[in-house]
Amino acid sequence: MARIPQELIDEIREKANIVDIVGQYVQLKKTGKNYSGLCPFHNEKTPSFSVAEDKQFYHCFGCGRGGNVFRFLQEIDGISFPEAVAKVADFEQISIPQEYREAEASSGNSEQRQLIELHEKAQELYHHLLMNTAVGEQALAHLHERGLDDETIAEFGIGFAPNQRQFLEQVFQNEGFDKELYEASGLFVARDDGHFADRFYQRIMFPIRDPRGKTIAFSGRFFKTMEFPGEDQPKYLNSPETSLFNKRMVLFNFDKARGTIRKESTVFLFEGFMDVIAAWRSGVKNGIASMGTSLTQQQVGAMERLADTIVICYDGDRAGIEATQRAIHLLRENSRLKIDIARLTDGLDPDEYVKKYGGQAFAQLAEHGRETVFSFQLDYYRGQYNLANEKDQLLYVETMLKELTQVDSLIQQDHYLTQLATEFHLQRETLQQQLDSFKQAQKPQATKATYPEEPRFEDFPEAGDMEVPPEQQAITRRPLTQGEKAEQQLLYRLFNEPRLLYQLQEAHLTFLHEEYERIYQLFVTYFEQKGEFDVAGFVDHLDDPEIQNKVITIVTLNLPQESTEKEIRVLLRVLDKTRLADKINEKVILQQEAGRIGNTQLELELAVEIIDLRKQLKQTDIF
Ligand code: GTP
Ligand code: MN
Repeated sequence: MARIPQELIDEIREKANIVDIVGQYVQLKKTGKNYSGLCPFHNEKTPSFSVAEDKQFYHCFGCGRGGNVFRFLQEIDGISFPEAVAKVADFEQISIPQEYREAEASSGNSEQRQLIELHEKAQELYHHLLMNTAVGEQALAHLHERGLDDETIAEFGIGFAPNQRQFLEQVFQNEGFDKELYEASGLFVARDDGHFADRFYQRIMFPIRDPRGKTIAFSGRFFKTMEFPGEDQPKYLNSPETSLFNKRMVLFNFDKARGTIRKESTVFLFEGFMDVIAAWRSGVKNGIASMGTSLTQQQVGAMERLADTIVICYDGDRAGIEATQRAIHLLRENSRLKIDIARLTDGLDPDEYVKKYGGQAFAQLAEHGRETVFSFQLDYYRGQYNLANEKDQLLYVETMLKELTQVDSLIQQDHYLTQLATEFHLQRETLQQQLDSFKQAQKPQATKATYPEEPRFEDFPEAGDMEVPPEQQAITRRPLTQGEKAEQQLLYRLFNEPRLLYQLQEAHLTFLHEEYERIYQLFVTYFEQKGEFDVAGFVDHLDDPEIQNKVITIVTLNLPQESTEKEIRVLLRVLDKTRLADKINEKVILQQEAGRIGNTQLELELAVEIIDLRKQLKQTDIF
């Protein structure tokens, strides 16, 4: 698809009013200058979501999300940037050339369009064979026997690929599809004689759909029968990677689950397609599965945009439990999603569970039978140690205390501490101390670094002074250093009062961290080009998503309306002080090193430098 020109993006954004568009998803009330409502991205009872008409920006104090109108649509609809641009254009009745659209099947570049058409055709065909022909009879009976009714089969577009290698090829030949497409589609394998053979045969076909619901690939489950035992066949065969299908991006059932995921702010993660389908039949409509691989950053990102909570519901067997443990680690490291576990008994997978106990029992478990990660791990690690042995008992307790540091709720911590103390006849007090020391050890590096002379920032105004709802603090992932806070605050002031730039340039402002310096430089360029500054436009000009996120964080800081002279002075001073303190720190380390290797000369020189720097640091306090 062709890239939408920046001018067109700007035009569309400038013509649109974010209030009207957000208003289609959220009930907004005017409160002073801004509009506010219940955040559509997380569950809440009191409104912390606000839209600033003047800035054309939205922001939630509760979950921290924010951005311009495009970002809003991307997040709420789970669509791409170009799709969001096209959507706003449609809303504002601005026509945009077809080549920039990827939202409809009639669009995209022509190869992709044709590939989708090919897949949709194949899907219809396979489905038809399954439902209406003798070839598909046995497979259909098998699916019925497994509890799938015709409605569900149709909903998921399940089909059957017959045991013929020339089936699709023949049909497509009559349809006049381009041969070049065959290879690109992944539906065929090229044979030595130049002919094509169907990749999928004798398989129950699960269409893999993109978030719009278009079929872009298949996963075929081998259908074993008396005539075709297929001993050497893999159980599942997936389409290869194509220009449509990127395994790392796709989540099975995401297209249909999206609405419920958003509404309930919860997503269920399953191992298999059949599990997703069984859950769906039971009324759990927010289930997805990856393509039999571990989750990628892109997949986690897509879920994060819609949900707060992920419920891992893997098979109840040993392999499923190990996979759960791996998924917990992966999610903890790569997302802010709250994790729950829905554990199945007797080594069953969700599909088998539904079959054995019924859909209602499964829905009940999904809703009320979830446990915390910690409770899951109490059991998981029990299996890793021999608890008859005293030494193992202690190791187990220690492991659990380490895990307990990950539990945010103090009430839960308290509960589990008591539980551990009681079970292993240990002093609760001792466990508490051990837990505290583990917590201490895990504090992020930044706060542990000791400055030789701790800068004091008494009159440094902080967001915390301004009645921020407590949830906002809870989502901050890592505490910012004073220096970084000052950098963000300075940029915030610049975005809101761009004219401060002249004063700051005079003060030779430079930033401590590369990323903030970069944002600053981008700001200067943008401001100088346009002669004015609008943050909603600025974020669209940033093509690095990390920088974009940083800017959004900065824009959505909660600071008093206007800057004061004193504030700017203090902020600049904080940067100077931090820079000096860092330098001193560096020299102190060098000095210690010099002392250690016995280089007295160097040690003395460094001492002199340090004294000098410390003097400078003191002087920054005199104003
Ligand atoms: P049933 O046996 O029909 O109940 O299937 P299932 O959905 O329970 O599958 P299973 O638990 O065996 O596997 C879970 C998921 O792993 C599947 O949905 C596939 O995505 C993937 N998978 C399983 N076997 C294979 C295989 O042989 N090849 C590939 N590529 N993926 C597989
Ligand atoms: Mn199964």
